[in-house]
Order: sequence, then structure tokens, then C-alpha cells
Amino acid sequence: MLIVAQLSDFHVCRPNQTAYGGVDTNAMFKQAVTAVLKMDPQPDCVIVSGDLTDCGLDEEYELVLSGLGALPMPVFVIPGNHDRRKSFVRVLSKRYPYLPPTGFVQYTDDRFPVRIIALDSVDEGETGGRFCTERQAWLRDQLARGGGKPTLVMIHHPPFPVAVDGMDILGLRDALAFAEIIREHPEVERVVCGHYHRPITVRFAGTVGFAVPSSAHQVALDLRPGHENRFIMEPPAFAVHTWRPDSGIVTHLVPTGDYGRPFDVVLSPEYPGLVTDA
Ligand SMILES: [Fe+2]
Ligand SMILES: [Fe+2]
Repeated sequence: MLIVAQLSDFHVCRPNQTAYGGVDTNAMFKQAVTAVLKMDPQPDCVIVSGDLTDCGLDEEYELVLSGLGALPMPVFVIPGNHDRRKSFVRVLSKRYPYLPPTGFVQYTDDRFPVRIIALDSVDEGETGGRFCTERQAWLRDQLARGGGKPTLVMIHHPPFPVAVDGMDILGLRDALAFAEIIREHPEVERVVCGHYHRPITVRFAGTVGFAVPSSAHQVALDLRPGHENRFIMEPPAFAVHTWRPDSGIVTHLVPTGDYGRPFDVVLSPEYPGLVTDA
């Protein structure tokens, strides 16, 4: 079985700083890394779907680098709208040499039974994402080289509507072109995203689209038309995508934080649920 842990939206700040007037994103980032390290078995790799820092500063990336450095398995990172490509690559390529030195921060990893295609949807200075013709051509080419091997595509900005107005105005602008490319490749088992700071699952372009919660603050679910996003301190979480030939990708959500130890399922003999009508 292949196990892929997906972390997202750390929004790491400079040392001893918090985000949005008091969210201790740095401590919560450490908590997420610790949660992955506690997994048994350990994931084969970790993917990180953008917004690693809050402001795209070198100092922030140094903290990200030392935090992620605790993970012994391969780690695949992409930028989000809060990141800055130059600083992202300058600092993180010290540990992740697969990061392209210039241009879009995107790449494919083919070492596992599931290919991982990591995309750059950043439109610097904008909150929403872009998937310009250059990036479209790149994705087409990468998918064409896969030979039908099961594939997971990671992109920060969700390329699908989620029926939340506050989110849908911040998604991927070139989503139709993106969907057309994905639809031609049924081997794409998942399109996994960050950015919305909530768990969301949709049917999308013949596959499954998924957005993972943040390791820090979440966005409150607000289905009222026209309403803007607000934050809420719902439990942070990460996703665990498992893959086996017989099941394909199965996605689990794991809250981070202290919820005690697992305990055995023990029923007392008097448990009323054991009594049948017969
Ligand atoms: Fe974010
Ligand atoms: Fe974002």
C-alpha cells in the first residue's frame, strides 16, 4: 500500500509572530509535523499543497525548512498565493533539489506506484490562481508521458466550484481549461488542493476533487449567498491518501491535536444494543 500524507496552508510566520491577530500558526505547524511522525506505518511521502508561509519571507521559509526537515520521507512542496516563488525556491531548494531554479514551481515525481504531478497555480500579487497556456501545455505533456499510470495531481487553488461564494471568487481562474485536460486522463485519481482551509470533496472532470483543511486556522462554512470568508478555529487536520491496486486512492482526514489514545472496543454483557427482538 502506498501512503501519502497531505499537509497544507501552514502560514508560518517569522519567529514569535502570529497570524491574523493571534493564530499561532508556527506552533500549529509543528503540531502537524509531529502528527505525521506519529503515524504507524509512516507515510511513504508527504505532499504540501501551498501557503507554506504567511508572507513569503526568507525568515519564514527557514522555519518551514527546519520543521519539515524532521520528516525523513520524501516531501513535495508547491507554493500558494501567500508564498513568493523566489524566496520559496531560494530557501527550500537547500533540502528539496527537485524544485526548478527558475520559472513555475512545478514537477513530476514518478518513483511510487502513483505518479505525483505538482502544479504551480500562483498569480503573484493575487489571491486567486492562474493556469496560463504555458502551464496548461506543461500539464498536458506530463500527463501524456504517464502511460496511464495512476496519478495524483496537486495544485494550491481548487479548479472546481465548491458552492461557497466567498471561496469561489478566490479559486483557479482558468478552471475550464484545466478540467478539459484532466478529463482526457482517467488515470488521474485525485486532484488535491489547499487554499480553502476546509475539507471539501467534489466530482470533477471525471475524477475526484479534494481540498484539505489547514494545519492552522480554518474558514467557517458560510453558505449564504454573497458572504465573505471568515476564519474559525475548528480543528486543524491533514489528509492521508492511501493507494492499493484493488481500491485506488482512498482519502482519510486526520485532525491534529491531542484527542487521547485509541482504546479497545469493549462492550459490557448488559449493553442494551446486543438484545435483539427475536
Ligand atoms: Fe491558505
Ligand atoms: Fe491560499
